Amino acid sequence: MTKPKQIIFATGNKGKLAEVKKIFEGTEYEIISLYELGDVPEIIEDGNTFEANSFIKAKAIYDIHKKPVIADDSGLEIEQLDGRPGVYAARYAGENCTYDDNNRKVISELEEFHEPHKARFVCCAVYYDGQNKEVSFGYLPGKIINEFRGQNGFGYDPIFVPEGFKQTLSEMNIEEKNKMSHRAEAFNELKEKIISGHL
Ligand code: IMP
Repeated sequence: MTKPKQIIFATGNKGKLAEVKKIFEGTEYEIISLYELGDVPEIIEDGNTFEANSFIKAKAIYDIHKKPVIADDSGLEIEQLDGRPGVYAARYAGENCTYDDNNRKVISELEEFHEPHKARFVCCAVYYDGQNKEVSFGYLPGKIINEFRGQNGFGYDPIFVPEGFKQTLSEMNIEEKNKMSHRAEAFNELKEKIISGHL
């Protein structure tokens, strides 16, 4: 058996890690997490766009380990909130806030608006190996509901219902979420670029 090619996933988010490891299953690539490398450095994401922030993460981890890296930056855009929380999705309710804090803030900000609260997840996935850079995007349209439903996933999953579905993302398992999610779309496309570019 040939040795798998290792790619580091520059994330400290275990929800993202589980989703992306599944996407690369069955390929010649092995996704290594920062936890397995024993170091999850804090990276300042001071870009204004998903693409800028995903590259900041990939480059920071490449500079430390000098090995191929993938990273993503993702967020939630809510129409009635003029696209907020957007790139600020992770800390929407403030520094050190929890996922529940963010969800409660979104639900309370939407109280004054009529349903449906149309929204979409966005994900920018990037590959960087010091020379080659590849970028892919994915989107998941849906709506925000005003209650928490389900136990799986992370982030805004308990209050997000994808278009054409009745369950929230938290009421689905990883396989179901990976059939439609913004992250799956972005990383499936990125995976094809990595494979076809022999990276
Ligand atoms: P990032 O780590 O800077 O990309 O932050 C992304 C934030 O957006 C996460 O902390 C979540 O709050 C939210 N988010 C991104 N993708 C998802 C998802 O698939 N489900 C739920 N929330 C997500």
